[in-house]
Amino acid sequence: MNYNKKSIEDIEVAGKRVLCRCDFNVPTKDGKITSDKRIVAALPTIQYLIAHKAKVILCSHMGKPKGEWKPELSLKVVAARLTELLGQEVIMAADVAGDDAKAKAAALREGQVMLLENTRYIKGETKNDPQLSKDLASLADVFVNDAFGTAHRAHSSTAGVADYLPAVCGYLVQKEVSIMGKALANPERPFVAILGGAKVSDKLNVINNLLEKVDTLIIGGGMAYTFLAAKGYAVGKSLLDEEKVAYCKEMMDKAAAKGVKLLLPTDVVVADAFPSPIDGPIEVSTVAADAIPADKMGLDIGEATCQTFAAAVKAAKTVVWNGPMGVFENPTLAKGTIAMAQALADSQAVTIVGGGDSAAACEQLGFADKITHISTGGGASLEFLEGLELPGIACLEDK
Ligand code: 3PG
Repeated sequence: MNYNKKSIEDIEVAGKRVLCRCDFNVPTKDGKITSDKRIVAALPTIQYLIAHKAKVILCSHMGKPKGEWKPELSLKVVAARLTELLGQEVIMAADVAGDDAKAKAAALREGQVMLLENTRYIKGETKNDPQLSKDLASLADVFVNDAFGTAHRAHSSTAGVADYLPAVCGYLVQKEVSIMGKALANPERPFVAILGGAKVSDKLNVINNLLEKVDTLIIGGGMAYTFLAAKGYAVGKSLLDEEKVAYCKEMMDKAAAKGVKLLLPTDVVVADAFPSPIDGPIEVSTVAADAIPADKMGLDIGEATCQTFAAAVKAAKTVVWNGPMGVFENPTLAKGTIAMAQALADSQAVTIVGGGDSAAACEQLGFADKITHISTGGGASLEFLEGLELPGIACLEDK
């Protein structure tokens, strides 16, 4: 995929209506934003557009309302936060590309900013409906995609609209693509990737693609148990994707053939059952990875494994991490994930954390500023690691 795309600096924006797709899909609780990271990450592009006298029309989805006007998924909270962060009013449209949005877009003055309602309030959005793409395009003269977190979706507001307007990327997309792209295409070595998370099946292609590129691949989290089973170990009641055991064997053979070090847990933290509630008290013990009792479930990597994995990170010049090492929502089972976050924070390497849970872990622990780059994309960063073409980037004009 060609990542050398035109950016906002390559086009004239002064006096133009610029439709800028952001990923404002931020977590909320009781109507309040609990992390404004994605909003803050969009500021450089928005501020550039304001400073260069564009008429700025922002849009985003939030959650999955599936065409229903769910009030709890309104972007009004985002408009309020943006108003504070920008220090100027962000005008909120009452609809997506309807009469109110049209009237407000037409009345915008240079340097003013408005925000459309949740694009997924319209059914056509996730179907990449050409009618919605045209309606969105009719609001503006230029399209800017700065929604890296949604770049893996071929929706009307992320890709379809680019069929009807000149389309370029914003600073966030540019930054994500250049840091992660360089790490994958031309990494400083040793290059170590750490993969975790529950299911092997979610990361099949990531494993395959990374084995082509890394010197060491570390596997932890729930997905490690299918690899341990592929080594012939009994895994007790641990998460096991039986259909993928053969695939894991194949990947281990591929790693050996390519001279890639594949590190799996050598000890694991086990309990009788998955914690319920997830963050509730739980009794655990640590066992060797080849001696998991039949009535126990592995829920985190053990101390010896933490040390081995951390030593590999310490020796690396480039590290990519995606996915927790255990049930990190539970303090007793978060130690492996914390150890990885700590190892990355202590490392002198270029460190890149894919979004989602591993990003949240680094942020909660206060390590965010010690990591080279924490992606704003969850699914998008994973698809990037798979080497897939991201529709929200592919649709932009090449340089
Ligand atoms: C995300 O949170 O990963 C993005 O905003 C994409 O959201 P989606 O998975 O609902 O498409």
